[in-house]
Amino acid sequence: MAKVDVVDQVLEHYSESIPQHVGIIMDGNGRWAQQKGMPRVYGHKKGVDAVRESVRFARKVGIKSLTLFAFSSENWKRPEDEVSGLMELFMLVLTKEVKTLHKNNVRLNIIGDLSGFSDKIQEKVNAAHELTMANTGLVLNVAANYGGRWDIVQSAKQLAQQVKSGELDIDDINEERFDTQTSLFGQPDLDLLIRTGGEYRVSNFLLWQLAYAELHFTPIFWPEFDAHRFAQAVEAFAGTERRFGLTGEQIKSGS
Ligand code: IPE
Ligand code: IPE
Ligand code: MG
Repeated sequence: MAKVDVVDQVLEHYSESIPQHVGIIMDGNGRWAQQKGMPRVYGHKKGVDAVRESVRFARKVGIKSLTLFAFSSENWKRPEDEVSGLMELFMLVLTKEVKTLHKNNVRLNIIGDLSGFSDKIQEKVNAAHELTMANTGLVLNVAANYGGRWDIVQSAKQLAQQVKSGELDIDDINEERFDTQTSLFGQPDLDLLIRTGGEYRVSNFLLWQLAYAELHFTPIFWPEFDAHRFAQAVEAFAGTERRFGLTGEQIKSGS
């Protein structure tokens, strides 16, 4: 089936229940490559094609924010050649893909501790933010040197700083205020988390934002993920009743 049909089908059947914010743990690149007798970095390279297709799908079906886990705070501990391969790829993607994203009205937002990256990468990230920041289409968040715990700690630190300077009263710290200092502030709540690669874990991704997200796990390795698989996740999402602590009866009666 042609890719465009998948988009049309989703719009035809699920336009009322498209998740506003989707997060993806793009896992399984290494195993996919190794299965083919190729080095792990080959899997990361192929993973970029799946990113491109997922971004396109998200744009076409009207998802507002897409947050991709590209590199975790813990991934620095991988073998040196894999880390440097990933950094080269990150640099390449920032150089080659940003123009197309901009043309497609995508706002690119890299989240994570950017100070861990080389000056060159940081320059590219800043340039990409600047170029795309006024765009009004899909918000594409790429989590790099990101950890959910890091995000919570850096938010806490900023609030502490505000208390120290007298700008904030401790009694005014609540969930809303805490949220204002987190990386995804101002974007819709995370509705759906997808993890490829067969594992049922969160691996320090969006811990704060996961509170009421629906979880979708698939054994497919990331380089094999495509619009069709994305559509399956949206279909499963559309079929769930989100109760947010209420009863099913309350949800049905709209109270
Ligand atoms: C995810 O794929 C990409 C990154 C973590 C950078 P992996 O590299 O973790 O692939 P597997 O899980 O080892 O197969
Ligand atoms: C999570 O995958 C991080 C990314 C996809 C970037 P990992 O492969 O690092 O997670 P674990 O080690 O299996 O938990
Ligand atoms: Mg992995």
